[in-house]
Amino acid sequence: LSKPDGHYIFLGAPGSGKGTQSLNLKKTHCYCHLSTGDLLREAAEKKNELGDKIRGIINEGKLVDNETVLSLVDEKLKSPQCKKGFILDGYPRNVKQAEDLNKLLETNKMKLDGVFYFNVPDETLFERINGRLIHKPSGRIYHKIYNPPKVPNRDDITNEPLTQRVDDNENVLKKRLKIYKSETEPLINYYKKLNLLVNLDGTEPAVDIEKKISQHISH
Ligand code: AP5
Repeated sequence: LSKPDGHYIFLGAPGSGKGTQSLNLKKTHCYCHLSTGDLLREAAEKKNELGDKIRGIINEGKLVDNETVLSLVDEKLKSPQCKKGFILDGYPRNVKQAEDLNKLLETNKMKLDGVFYFNVPDETLFERINGRLIHKPSGRIYHKIYNPPKVPNRDDITNEPLTQRVDDNENVLKKRLKIYKSETEPLINYYKKLNLLVNLDGTEPAVDIEKKISQHISH
């Protein structure tokens, strides 16, 4: 396995392929995969006040407050697993979070090596989200058409049932997309100005996107 150090952000709309590529890269490069969506969904499972609050926000397609997300990222970044390199999947999601991240990286004596932007048109996003299936215990991601499991509705490895995320429906996706455009899209220019942006055509087959990311990382 090649293991270059590297600190990367995966930026893109809901359903643009960030999670799929993070899981691939985690396997080939041993990076720590830090998905704020996964961390928040885990917190939302807890039957306490914070869990209830986060669950409500995710199910409505809104963003969880910056402080809560920052504390989750802060804790994870300090873990030994993340020292070699990480992929931030779904963080930052607005300019304030980007600034919080800058401070956090400085404190931990880390620097960003690149921001991969997954460019995918809206109509494709709807198709992807409508057909997405997940294996909750492992986080493995499938698609009914584009990445179907070997046995319908069953995980390839464990044969356990696959499920749909509660926020994966057309109504909530519309809200998630609206917030993405107003809050997250400005980060494209933010990182372009810092010379960190790497544009990816997110409509290409997943294997081709994986090759492009790997080539970039190995340079
Ligand atoms: P989060 O879990 O981060 O969701 P998201 O950003 O909306 O992204 P998704 O996970 O939906 O999509 P993805 O880009 O990973 O696509 P995937 O690879 O699965 O966030 C969920 C919620 O948590 C937010 O709404 C918010 O409430 C909260 N949250 C999270 N982070 C936060 C933050 N920083 N601040 C505040 N709140 C936060 O692919 C999608 C489908 O397409 C799959 O079925 C896959 O098989 C298929 N596919 C992937 N690539 C391809 C390809 N190249 N060709 C064909 N099909 C493909």
